[in-house]
Amino acid sequence: MSAIYLPPSVRHFEPLHMVFSTWVDHLPFGYDLVTALRPKLLVELGTHKGLSYFTFCQAMKANEVDGLCYAVDTFEGDEHTDKYDESVFTSVNDHNRQNYHGFSYLMRMFFQDALRHFSEDSIDLLHIDGFHTYEAVSEDFANWYPKIKPGGIILFHDVQARVQDFGAWKFWDEIRAQHETFTFNHGFGLGVLRKPGGDRSQDPELLKLLFEKPTEESSARLRAFYVHASKHLENNRKLKRLTQGPKSHVSVTPAA
Ligand SMILES: C[S@@+](CC[C@H](N)C(=O)[O-])C[C@H]1O[C@@H](n2cnc3c(N)ncnc32)[C@H](O)[C@@H]1O
Repeated sequence: MSAIYLPPSVRHFEPLHMVFSTWVDHLPFGYDLVTALRPKLLVELGTHKGLSYFTFCQAMKANEVDGLCYAVDTFEGDEHTDKYDESVFTSVNDHNRQNYHGFSYLMRMFFQDALRHFSEDSIDLLHIDGFHTYEAVSEDFANWYPKIKPGGIILFHDVQARVQDFGAWKFWDEIRAQHETFTFNHGFGLGVLRKPGGDRSQDPELLKLLFEKPTEESSARLRAFYVHASKHLENNRKLKRLTQGPKSHVSVTPAA
């Protein structure tokens, strides 16, 4: 009989850093993946206001993971986010220093220039969430794949976003069958890819659910679970706004 998987995000996760981002639909999975993987080295390409990145950092800290995190971004924006002002970097930098000092570092530069700071086969978890054209996502993958540890994971955001000239979906469609992958379709989609190799004998339950002989039924259950988990977080946020907002007239009495 397989073990029951009780995702840690359900038990103890409330995002510390809530900002607007379409990554909002994947927060519980991001938290659970970092908790399960316990990465020694985590790199994000594309951080903007930090929603995904600080979810990863929060999981590292809450679970006392002994690892390093790097957020690579020019913090200037691109044609999809539009150019943004310096206040974005200031606020990300402040939150990082106040909460994740000592293990999380911002690398304010182009992805291309960050490459030389990382060795081959060294990264446990890479999140690709930069510029979203087909060409840019292909280039990020080709440049960074050699840096991933055997058995390591790459996340791709927006693999279902068929808007403007976004092309992550097209790239994902091309490569998903050639690799070990799992796709979350909700929100704008999140692709999870695992590099071959590595010792899998100690794989945590979440990795087994994602990659170890998933059936259509088990995959559908996992997808449904994370749709509900993100809705649950959203409802908690709405309730909090209603009950704790400065102009709130609502009081909630605990059930008898
Ligand atoms: C979609 S946003 C990241 C969203 C973020 N992960 C979140 O949780 O909301 C993309 C970011 O990638 C950055 N970016 C795009 N291309 C880049 C490049 N070649 N080098 C560095 N930063 C880049 C942009 O400045 C922007 O902040």
